[in-house]
Amino acid sequence: MAQSKVKPKQSPSTAAFEPWNDPIEKPLIQFKGVTKRFGDFTAIDNLTLDIFEREFFALLGPSGCGKTTMMRMLAGFETPTEGQILLSGRDIGDVPPNKRAVNMMFQSYALFPHLSVWDNIAFGLRREKRDKDSIASRVDEMLRLTRLEKFANRKPHQISGGQRQRVALARSLAKAPKLLLLDEPLGALDRKLREETQFELMDIQETTGTTFVIVTHDQEEAMTVASRVAVMDEGKMVQVATPQTIYEAPNSVYVASFIGDVNLIRGTANLRNVATAAPAAPESETKPEPVTKIETDEDPRKPQPNDYGKWLHDRLLAPILGQRVDEPKALPAPTKAELAAAAELQAPVHVPEGGLTIDWAENTPALIAANGDPEFDGKEVVLALRPEKMGIAKTKPDAPNVMRGKVIDIAYLGNISTYHVELKTGTMVKAQVANTRRVSRRNITWEDEVWVSFSATAGVVLTE
Ligand SMILES: Nc1ncnc2c1ncn2[C@@H]1O[C@H](COP(=O)(O)OP(=O)(O)OP(=O)(O)O)[C@@H](O)[C@H]1O
Ligand SMILES: [Mg+2]
Repeated sequence: MAQSKVKPKQSPSTAAFEPWNDPIEKPLIQFKGVTKRFGDFTAIDNLTLDIFEREFFALLGPSGCGKTTMMRMLAGFETPTEGQILLSGRDIGDVPPNKRAVNMMFQSYALFPHLSVWDNIAFGLRREKRDKDSIASRVDEMLRLTRLEKFANRKPHQISGGQRQRVALARSLAKAPKLLLLDEPLGALDRKLREETQFELMDIQETTGTTFVIVTHDQEEAMTVASRVAVMDEGKMVQVATPQTIYEAPNSVYVASFIGDVNLIRGTANLRNVATAAPAAPESETKPEPVTKIETDEDPRKPQPNDYGKWLHDRLLAPILGQRVDEPKALPAPTKAELAAAAELQAPVHVPEGGLTIDWAENTPALIAANGDPEFDGKEVVLALRPEKMGIAKTKPDAPNVMRGKVIDIAYLGNISTYHVELKTGTMVKAQVANTRRVSRRNITWEDEVWVSFSATAGVVLTE
């Protein structure tokens, strides 16, 4: 399990994996105008969706939005009231569950308590009347894959919850389904085990090349494991996109607020610059670098590891030499001279042309959203801003968008701090700042008057 910690959340191979953008690729699963009604209640509402081979597809949405119903229709336990479901181009409407190359791990999976781990995994294979040797080699392979070899002879009550979950997974994978449906597969696990199992799932999915459709209540989990995420609401797909697009470019206030933390600023949009109305490309990382005043003149520094040094230690040296025992000391504050030099080096603020301005409060400058859609001219809009794209400073920063407010609360989370700032209008916003920079922001505290700032392309302009 040790390697799971160093595995990047998105391996380079998944970055290039985009069959949904390839017109030649044939989807493995197609929902075509599928509606499912229970009596006069519509659980799934005219849903059309393609899922591709080898995808790790995540369904996200509030309780009762229709996630399990979608899975049950795929597995064959429910039939659509209207529309078609195709698997590899073939309508599976009249194919019974056990004849579909689909397996489902249920929201509340149950292992057979009187059977050993080995026999639980073998169960489905035996029902297929395979010969003994092929069953044995398949079960052993599954035990290896899920790292359960040591527990083969135990009964379910003699292993941990996480191990039981892996047995259920091994059992669902044993028949080598083309498609595996996982309904809240990690729901029973604590956070740490859950994170480890997420990486294991990703490994298993990559190794076996199975297509996974997973339901989860945990948005972070969906973002970690999925090639694409579908955000559902009341039987409809609101947005289907990569985790990054869902996060950086949500298509609605619903999606923006469903995934992660977001600041919503309401206002009226106006065309910003008619001559160059083309919207600027959204920017993903940068945000203004607020500079905080620090009073110190002496230079009390001793050599300290920089980020590269830490990386070298964690990845290469620590496994050989063990963890360093002396804790790295907190980085000392820069001197006045250094701060002045850094200020001189600061590039002028670049504000792309075009987009929208947003009137959001009286007697305050309009906000600039250079990436705003000119179509929204004159409309009531919502500017959605991720807290980590907001800077916070005591002195007015040189940024395209600045707002005045007062610090109401600070949540210190070790590597990041979130400042809750009440704007002059009464609106609360959150600014999240990494605590890694040399320039400490610790001198911003409760009740402080501050400037919250963000770039001209930091937000996403949405209509409700
Ligand atoms: N057999 C049924 N008869 C009547 N209504 C049903 C039936 N199955 C599901 N529903 C209804 O359909 C809606 C969707 O249910 P579903 O189980 O798909 O939700 P879900 O998104 O999986 O929710 P959760 O996250 O709570 O598991 C719910 O309102 C549910 O009450
Ligand atoms: Mg469900």
